[in-house]
Amino acid sequence: MANQAEPAQGDTMAKIVSLCKRRGFIFQSSEIYGGLKSCYDYGPLGAELKRNIAAEWWRSMVYERDNIVGLDAAIMMHPQVWQTSGHLAGFSDPLVDCLNCKERFRADKAPRAEPGSQSVFTTGGKTGGQKHSATVTAKGYVCPNCNSPGLSDERQFNLMFRTAIGPVDPLADLTKELAGQVLSAEKIREMIDEAVRKTAVYLRPETAQAMFVQFLNVQQSMAMKIPFGIAQVGKSFRNEIVTEHFIFRSCEFEQMEMEFFCEPGTQKEWLAYWRNERMAWYHRFANSKEAFRIRQHATDELAHYSDDCYDIEYLYPWGWGELEGVSSRTDFDLSRHAEASGVKLSYFDQQKNDPATGKPGWRYIPYVIEPAAGLTRSVLCFLADAYAEESGVDADGAIKKRVLLKLHPRLAPYKAAILPLVKKDGQPEMAMDLVAQMRKLGLNVSYDDKQSIGKRYARHDEIGTPYCLTIDNDSLKDNSVTLRDRDTATQERLPVAAAIATVQRRLDGSI
Ligand code: GAP
Repeated sequence: MANQAEPAQGDTMAKIVSLCKRRGFIFQSSEIYGGLKSCYDYGPLGAELKRNIAAEWWRSMVYERDNIVGLDAAIMMHPQVWQTSGHLAGFSDPLVDCLNCKERFRADKAPRAEPGSQSVFTTGGKTGGQKHSATVTAKGYVCPNCNSPGLSDERQFNLMFRTAIGPVDPLADLTKELAGQVLSAEKIREMIDEAVRKTAVYLRPETAQAMFVQFLNVQQSMAMKIPFGIAQVGKSFRNEIVTEHFIFRSCEFEQMEMEFFCEPGTQKEWLAYWRNERMAWYHRFANSKEAFRIRQHATDELAHYSDDCYDIEYLYPWGWGELEGVSSRTDFDLSRHAEASGVKLSYFDQQKNDPATGKPGWRYIPYVIEPAAGLTRSVLCFLADAYAEESGVDADGAIKKRVLLKLHPRLAPYKAAILPLVKKDGQPEMAMDLVAQMRKLGLNVSYDDKQSIGKRYARHDEIGTPYCLTIDNDSLKDNSVTLRDRDTATQERLPVAAAIATVQRRLDGSI
């Protein structure tokens, strides 16, 4: 079939979400019970894709460098960590309720409107009953659902999930204490908060903090010399007010973060280095390089701990959005944790003179550069980058459409599919033998004998398998296969060994 590439168009997101379910990449969590808001399960192929992305990140951050080591920390940490890091006091979003349609939303994400202007809205939401008009207040925004300017006051909503550790019911004693008492609502709330606080632990909202609190253990156990980094991939949790765009913003997600500890004064050059390294990493695996861009944070956008920050953004089907933040975190975290714990989280460099005294030996608190990427968000980015629809003319002159995922072979769930043309004449046996050979080489390949060969090609195009190796009657005679390339749909007759070598060469980047 001659192919003509067509840019993914129309409702691309809906098509990606549908493909993800149909082909076993991503399912709604607890779907048979109606699903749970913004929670997703990675199916057989999604689990492979996610693992492959994480493995490539780990390879580029840890295996290919001498000065970065890994960590796999507990999700629950001492609550003091979050007190010290500022998350308990400040990791919150401004929450507002619409008094008209009852929508709950983030004030900072709401549609802007000129104070004093009129906003037209309908009762009961966008498609509801009567039209009304009201004056936009000094807040300068309206409800994202119905446009009403009639809104509650903003209140800060902490994004951390709180739970309790240990077999103690924090409310048991309190309930006894409160029984029979007449107290104000505020007083009861205060007492409940106090009781809950005693056993409270939090699900980490970022993987980063463990790398700060384990700085000394890692540095000493591995004899690391500055500059060095600690890398981690793992789950994070945020009770997001607005979850959106499938897996783009969810309450449970995965991050790939690295804390790079460097000498004070060198942070600018390391920030530039890591910004470029991370951009190059995305480019290595993407089809459309122009869909990635770097955006520097404005001063008023910087987090309280940061003196400079760049976002790597991707052009998602709905527009540009964050994919990764590369931030210069100063010595904020190590200083705060050192102060709160009483443990010296510093580094002694014998080779350097102390700039303050000019004497040999310099003890300092390292500065930190943090490339913080979303793993689950990268899954969405690479799916969107890979999704393509093509039309072409087949051998009979008929127009045929095909959907394909042009995933980089290293990210693709299967590296090749092995297809016996028919389920007889020794073809399945030869195919299974080839599968075993390729698995021995560490290649995740799929044996597939279901349905017609055309349908099998279409299925593997849609799940991003870079090559299909088809076995027919001639294969048994001359030990050859037909190698079909996913992206060009071209077919080539090759000896088995040459076909395996092609799959391998594509993986190691030599073709
Ligand atoms: N340690 C710094 C930190 O966590 P962040 O910008 O809040 O920084 C880093 O998060 C990355 O984690 C983001 O660029 C994004 O890719 C991902 N991320 C953050 N919140 C997310 C969410 N609710 N759902 C999915 N991914 C998220």
